[in-house]
Amino acid sequence: MFLTSELKKFHEDRPKSKKLWETSVKVLPGGISHNIRTFGLPLIGAFPVFINSANGPYLIDIDNNKYIDCWNGHFAMILGHNPPQVQEAIKEHLKNGWHFGTNTQYQVELAERIIKDNLGIEKMRFCTSGTEATMYATRLARAYTKRKLVAKAGLGWHGANDTLYYAVGSLDAEICPLGLPKPEEAGILAFEINNEKVFDLIKLNSKNLAAIILEPILGGGGGFPVNHEFLKRLREETEKFDILLIFDEVITGYRFINGLFQNQIGVIPDLTTMGKIIGGGMPIGAIGGKEEIIEQSSPNFENQILIGGGTFSGFPLSMIAGLKTLNILKDSQKNYLRINQEGERLLTKLNQFFNDEKLKLIAIGYKSMIMLHAMTKRIEQPSIREIIEFKDKNREALLQLALFNRNISGLHGLGSISMAHTHENIVQIQDVVRDIGKPVSQQRFN
Ligand SMILES: Cc1ncc(COP(=O)(O)O)c(C=O)c1O
Repeated sequence: MFLTSELKKFHEDRPKSKKLWETSVKVLPGGISHNIRTFGLPLIGAFPVFINSANGPYLIDIDNNKYIDCWNGHFAMILGHNPPQVQEAIKEHLKNGWHFGTNTQYQVELAERIIKDNLGIEKMRFCTSGTEATMYATRLARAYTKRKLVAKAGLGWHGANDTLYYAVGSLDAEICPLGLPKPEEAGILAFEINNEKVFDLIKLNSKNLAAIILEPILGGGGGFPVNHEFLKRLREETEKFDILLIFDEVITGYRFINGLFQNQIGVIPDLTTMGKIIGGGMPIGAIGGKEEIIEQSSPNFENQILIGGGTFSGFPLSMIAGLKTLNILKDSQKNYLRINQEGERLLTKLNQFFNDEKLKLIAIGYKSMIMLHAMTKRIEQPSIREIIEFKDKNREALLQLALFNRNISGLHGLGSISMAHTHENIVQIQDVVRDIGKPVSQQRFN
């Protein structure tokens, strides 16, 4: 049986990771520090690997297995791992110390840089994570509009803050996460992307809706792109009713072009949250947007809307790594084009193969973002709702396991293509997915 032989190989090749996992589950709940870092593997009797080092497109685990990495540090490492110029910049600064709890020139330079690149960012504030950034953005929106309701895209992942941790694994906000108030008490509504119903929701709640928040491509939700026309309509309808539009660009910012996704389609939201790439692989979050709104968080403002704080906000190494990364990206037009094309080609080729072979797999993504979904049954051109309803977590875990066994590391199937990936890397990924697609799809689970 495919599952049995894959598990045997996985365990045999990773004795050190296996041993460390046994300790890990004793000291960390579920053995992890981020929920998705099990890679689903314990579900089918395996364990996640422990990584020791990374370079370019590769990760190396503590058993010395080398992987082509598509996870890229939760999408943050667009230049690949350990890019020498960024490493140099960090090393250079380390000589001076790394945490002062004061202002540094680097936060000004990074803010200037981001503001220069993006029409929609007139002023901005740094924090330490995207989770904080989206929490602050919604708070700012509520206080600014003096309205309570926030509508978020179902499946949207904005971090696990108390405000937005609703409708994460599902399209609807009906399930109440333990420890949080019911969605109606929390003032959270959910809508489905690319579905006209949201415009009725806006009309119905126009007097109480503070903001609409969504990612232009649902990242953690599964790689689903939002139609550009839908985003344009959202802008028009929110403007009509003085509802703030918030784009969560924590993943999409600087992912497809040297700037925010919003520039690509000319839809400028009121507020934008950012993270990941703009920190060059160091912890970061940021919120930016219209000066009139964001300036209200200034201590000089009479009725200051309090957002921020954070011992490590504007952390110098994050600012420096971010600046260096954005400077490299400024001259990376060819590389952006290349990885976007590689992603589009890979997506098309994989779906052609899945369709020809009638597999229970589908690739979803946009340009350099690419995810793989497994389902309990074969569905021709499934809708987002069907992909989620018939999600097969065991099959997805087996897919991940079979990829690791063939020296490819990914999450949500794959993840993204970085500028360190070569064409040969992408061809290898494609060949491996083709090799394992059939047995993964045909595997029976009890
Ligand atoms: C779109 C989006 N927003 C917010 C977050 C939360 O960011 P962080 O993990 O830095 O807290 C994430 C993280 O994956 C994300 O993908």
